[in-house]
Amino acid sequence: MLVLGIETSCDETGVALYHSESGLLADALHSQIDLHARFGGVVPELASRDHIRKIVPLVRPALSESETTLDDLDGVAYTAGPGLTGALMVGAGFGQTLAWSLDIPAIGIHHMEGHLLAPLMEASGASATAASAAFPFIALLVSGGHTQLVEVAAVGEYELLGESLDDAAGEAFDKVAKMLGLGYPGGPALAACAREGDPGRFRFPRPMTDRPGLDFSFSGLKTYAMNTVNAAEPLSDTDRSDIARAFEEAVVDTLLIKCRRALEQRAISTLLIAGGVSANTRLRSVLTEKLDASVIYPAQHLCTDNGAMIAYAGCLRLQAGQADEQVVRVRARWPMTELPELDARPGPGALRAPGALRPSRR
Ligand code: KG4
Ligand code: ZN
Repeated sequence: MLVLGIETSCDETGVALYHSESGLLADALHSQIDLHARFGGVVPELASRDHIRKIVPLVRPALSESETTLDDLDGVAYTAGPGLTGALMVGAGFGQTLAWSLDIPAIGIHHMEGHLLAPLMEASGASATAASAAFPFIALLVSGGHTQLVEVAAVGEYELLGESLDDAAGEAFDKVAKMLGLGYPGGPALAACAREGDPGRFRFPRPMTDRPGLDFSFSGLKTYAMNTVNAAEPLSDTDRSDIARAFEEAVVDTLLIKCRRALEQRAISTLLIAGGVSANTRLRSVLTEKLDASVIYPAQHLCTDNGAMIAYAGCLRLQAGQADEQVVRVRARWPMTELPELDARPGPGALRAPGALRPSRR
């Protein structure tokens, strides 16, 4: 089965082709970083307009790179939420229309499920059976919009164990980077700056680690960083690096403590990390070294938003016979726990968000 995946939930236009036997055939990405950089963050209306401009020009080279044509497609998968409504509508409108014109099924994919499944893509091909070798596992989803710990029994069987009560980890990285004058997007810039930092100069708190439970809070850490910046002003490059280092260590340590707790509480021995912050090399190495568990993470290019993860998740669900109604519907907010299990079939009143399931024709 050949699936076109489309990602337009925020500031990256991603288009990819995934084949159930041959794997990832093409993965095209257009980043809007330059468009939003001067505003210091994503401007939703500009994001939507740019997705419209870039989506068709990305599909054409992806098809030629994979030596396929539109007629070879068996299905279309697009991100249906969570994300910016206008941006999501571009991918959903394009995906549904293309699928309708080709008379093939389309399915709206949950963005965080896309992230969650991305590390399994390379290991397994699209076979749900092969991917199931990793189940059950604890997933740490860390992106610009989410910080969640999820117990994953199988594709679509998700139990939320904990989440951030305020800022997401990536959002905190971005805001502290801004305080340090490191630009947008801040995560990679802050991580690079932290590499030069002295780990002994500042020690930032590890929020909510002294309380039981698996929720997170990063806004206090952000305020602590702000106070440290104010006290050190005017900032030298050394100050910047030392503050970045202390902040990064505090976030990584906090995530480590909560991951260890989740693994112990659930007696599970595999941790999967995914989402933009999983690109952070300190996070990857600390979790791998300090946890008594096997740690799975995606290739660098699959950590941040991309079309490949949507094509892969779509391929798994379309192969299982799922598809959405021919309706352009998206959800800015969408709990992942509402997703159907992989073998869920439409029955009387069996509605799934964002559309009702209908059987796939292939
Ligand atoms: O998954 P993603 O591309 O978009 C969302 O779904 O939100 O994640 C983007 C987030 C941004 O906050 C970005 O600063 C962060 O991931 N990020 C990083 C790194 N690379 C990206 N944070 C820390 N270290 C990195 N190397
Ligand atoms: Zn994302």
